[in-house]
Amino acid sequence: RTKRQAISAEPSALDPSKLSDVTLTSYCKSKESSELIQRALMDNDFMKHLEQGQILTIMDCMSPTSLAKGCCVIQEGDDGSTVYVLEEGKVEVSKQGKKLCSIGPGKVFGELAILYNCTRTATVTALTDIKLWAIDRQGFQTIMMRTGLIKLSQYTDFLRSVPSLQSLPEDVLSKLADVLEETHYSEGDYIIRQGATGDTFFIISEGQVKVSQQNAAGDELLVEKSLSKGDWFGEQALEGEDVRTASVTAVGDVTCLVIDRESFKQLIGGLDDVNNKPSDDNEVEAKLQAEADFFSSVS
Ligand code: CMP
Repeated sequence: RTKRQAISAEPSALDPSKLSDVTLTSYCKSKESSELIQRALMDNDFMKHLEQGQILTIMDCMSPTSLAKGCCVIQEGDDGSTVYVLEEGKVEVSKQGKKLCSIGPGKVFGELAILYNCTRTATVTALTDIKLWAIDRQGFQTIMMRTGLIKLSQYTDFLRSVPSLQSLPEDVLSKLADVLEETHYSEGDYIIRQGATGDTFFIISEGQVKVSQQNAAGDELLVEKSLSKGDWFGEQALEGEDVRTASVTAVGDVTCLVIDRESFKQLIGGLDDVNNKPSDDNEVEAKLQAEADFFSSVS
């Protein structure tokens, strides 16, 4: 599972309504530099959970800069305005005059003050002549927030299209969209294993999955069915069942939106009118009713 967004820019740092006013500038770079930057971002503890699209955009917007040996790149206690990736040379990180470590090519630094809206936590000095890639606070935070907001509205639209969720109030849908995690699977991946424990509920946003249930001895297939976009599974976990009663595997590439029991109950619990929409089609009606029963049973 890959986390949708492990970190987000401090909301107070940038007014979301101004996001569309910010122009992001991209800078040409060689294939080697692009790869070095991407690897550096994915290797950084605070940034490795960013989405691939965010990593690519940050990489694209980083501009080149060089500094001579001995220069102070970052001064502890200053307001931070830039995140760096070191391409060539070596820097030293120190705090209150004490050396913490030295950093070589392919590493991110200067991310903390921007991510956490705090002052610089350490001083960074060039030990050699250095080449850096840099992105400023505004560009960085715009990428973080713009992507987040686009995702949020895409998820909300998608949830609104799921019959069982259609009648949820708009604010609940968008809160649900906000706590969902997007997860990706490839052909044959187990999304859920029968007998394993779990407390998460899945809505398929792309692709198809196979649900199979075996008898206790594991030598007889009791149920096999496929589910696709808009269908959900893992719902028994939301009802308090920790042990998975069936296995679910990906048929080709699959994207799911996942929510855990606690968040789901906080948001949906208490809403017993979920999906009582009338329908002419008996089969659809039966499905909607089953779903409505399920959603009210977890409330
Ligand atoms: P920031 O606080 O913005 O500016 C100083 C940077 O030094 C900081 O982000 C980190 O990138 C880096 N840094 C701080 N502490 C350490 C540490 N203990 N080890 C390595 N790098 C650090």
